[in-house]
Amino acid sequence: MSHLIAPSLLSADFTNLSADIDMVNNSQADWFHLDVMDGVFVPNISFGMPVIKAIKKYATKPLDVHLMIVQPERYIQDFKNVGADILTIHYEASTHLHRSIHAIKDAGMQAGVVLNPHTNVSLLTELIKDLDVVLLMSVNPGYGGQKFIEHSYEKVSKLKEMILKRNANVLIEVDGGVTIENAPKLVKAGADVLVAGNTVFGSDNPSLTIEKLKQV
Ligand code: DX5
Ligand code: ZN
Repeated sequence: MSHLIAPSLLSADFTNLSADIDMVNNSQADWFHLDVMDGVFVPNISFGMPVIKAIKKYATKPLDVHLMIVQPERYIQDFKNVGADILTIHYEASTHLHRSIHAIKDAGMQAGVVLNPHTNVSLLTELIKDLDVVLLMSVNPGYGGQKFIEHSYEKVSKLKEMILKRNANVLIEVDGGVTIENAPKLVKAGADVLVAGNTVFGSDNPSLTIEKLKQV
């Protein structure tokens, strides 16, 4: 399988969202990446259910919803109801992660855990077989357009090793500071899904940029 591309709408034009959704629909992108921030788990506040519900009406590709909120287990059914296909929650925000992951699956979504840059991938050893996705943050969450943390390559390789060793069926997704320059190295290290916000929406030709990210 070739790697997947998930443009992050955090960097899209919110005054003309339907145009950017159409662009992603008609591009080589695979998923929509949607960043939900609560101003508590991360310093920033982004958007929530009503906006995702509106996006779902236009989007023809799966919605990959990244929750940067405390107590994400409180909102699992709500995100299912507004159209999330993949729901990822932070290791650092969920005390009963095993229960929450299974609640996401029981609600009919693919389930993933997100690790902040400081969180060791070895903490997922006991849970890896239960997951569909592991999302590795390659910046500190909260904002688009930040600089990629170089140590992330090593985390991708380490996670890939664990997945192969345990014979788990899990996608490795990388989020934050992904560019056309670092994408080849990430894919080589084992990344299956690349999230890109600023690289896509900050470029002159977003659709072509997605094509370039897809072809690395
Ligand atoms: C950051 C978000 C990212 C963000 C990525 O907290 O999780 O998804 O939109 O943006 P870029 O690709 O610009 O770093
Ligand atoms: Zn994200």
